[in-house]
Amino acid sequence: MSLLTPEWTGLLYLIAAVCFILALRGLSSPKTARRGNLIGAAGALLAVITVFLSARIENIPFILIAIAVGSAIAAPISRRVEMTQMPQLVALFNGVGGGAAALVAVLELGSSDSLGSKVAVVFTMLIGAVSFSGSAVTVGKLQGLISSRPLIFPGLAIVMGGVVLAALIAGGFVVATGAAGWAIALLVLGLLVGALLVLPVGGADVPIVISLLNAFTGLAVAASGIVLGNLLLVVAGTLVGASGTILTRAMASAMGRGVSGILFGAFKGGSTAGSTTQSDRPVRSSNAEDVAVLLNYAQRVVIVPGYGLAVAQGQHTIAELATTLEARGVEVVFAIHPVAGRMPGHMNVLLAEANVPYEALKEMAEVNPEFKNTDVALVVGANDVVNPAAKTSPGSPIYGMPILDVGEARQVVFLKRSMRPGFAGIENELLYDPKTTLLFGDAKDSLTKVLGAVNAL
Ligand code: TAP
Repeated sequence: MSLLTPEWTGLLYLIAAVCFILALRGLSSPKTARRGNLIGAAGALLAVITVFLSARIENIPFILIAIAVGSAIAAPISRRVEMTQMPQLVALFNGVGGGAAALVAVLELGSSDSLGSKVAVVFTMLIGAVSFSGSAVTVGKLQGLISSRPLIFPGLAIVMGGVVLAALIAGGFVVATGAAGWAIALLVLGLLVGALLVLPVGGADVPIVISLLNAFTGLAVAASGIVLGNLLLVVAGTLVGASGTILTRAMASAMGRGVSGILFGAFKGGSTAGSTTQSDRPVRSSNAEDVAVLLNYAQRVVIVPGYGLAVAQGQHTIAELATTLEARGVEVVFAIHPVAGRMPGHMNVLLAEANVPYEALKEMAEVNPEFKNTDVALVVGANDVVNPAAKTSPGSPIYGMPILDVGEARQVVFLKRSMRPGFAGIENELLYDPKTTLLFGDAKDSLTKVLGAVNAL
């Protein structure tokens, strides 16, 4: 017997849906993101409790064990994960969500009788399986378990076409016969499609694919809501699908690409990754003391943070350096590129952690015209987002991506460990520019030394 009437169930689902919408709103700004996250989690908890109270559920001990096991695995991983590994975590959870939707659809196969619900079952199975295996491949690429370079083989497009066609045929048979054998074939083919779709994507584009697969999972969940006759799943899945699609498009456009080019570039014969060539040309390297002098006597300094700052966890030191320079009359701002780091808003979150005031952060469009009036551009662990190849080399994989015009500043200082390229794997001509100085070393160590040297002046 269920404890809640359908009216109460509907009302509680409505409250949960409103929580999800408010969560998305909160997540749209770093200032309200934490609250948004909590509201979303509260909505999810309310939805789960409502399901327990409103439906006639069997096997409750098994369900509770599954929840306990899932929580025991997910909670420590989430607590321990480094911020730089966040895309992998998102991909992992997203893939599991897609896989769960596919399994639910398999179980509902027997009880769906209308054509509409059978089509929804097939859709959920296929998209859920694609999302599961695709996400698993993205985790492998970002974690370094699989090469982040595009994995392409001759005839890839034909194989992919064949597998998609076979999946559609299997789906047709599932609708027509409801046979378990066809359902299993559909799942396997869906898994293959997901893997074949993501393996050819180059490392730099993987975060965008994660966001796209997130949208796929949303669609699969929405379709599973139709299968189960659960309106909240439809609402939540649609929200994830829509927000994932918007985020995917925003990231792709910030990198100056189309989503189809990222996904199907390799199928057309082009690669979405760059070549890692390093030349032996001389560069101008310096020490912390010289960089300190450069910064101390500048009128205006623009700091460009990137992925390396996050790796080095140098955010607190850079915030202290900025405050110290400002106290000495230097104007300091932070230039934020929309895809600096490895996830949307990565630099904003990183600098917010170190209490850098939001007003000190400038977006690309605002800061770019100001570089020509800048004495020193201090590039800390960033590379691709300042690489002029995006403007000058039509063959480059980042060609067309808007960049921060640090090359227009009077002096450029790079803090990095070596001459290795950034995520896109391509050389940066700016490193060889006569006005560029390199301070080699871990960003946090270098920043600590520079800060010490500024204080000693
Ligand atoms: P990258 O181009 O990846 O460059 C990072 C630089 O940091 C490297 O040159 C590396 O050089 C240096 N580095 C790494 N660890 C360091 C450490 N401990 N100390 C000092 N330096 C360190 O980073 P970016 O400029 O932030 O660009 C982001 C890239 O990710 C772009 O290609 C972008 O397209 C891609 N991407 C981002 C997103 C989002 S949403 N953020 C989404 C999709 C793709 P060394 O190894 O020599 O130190």
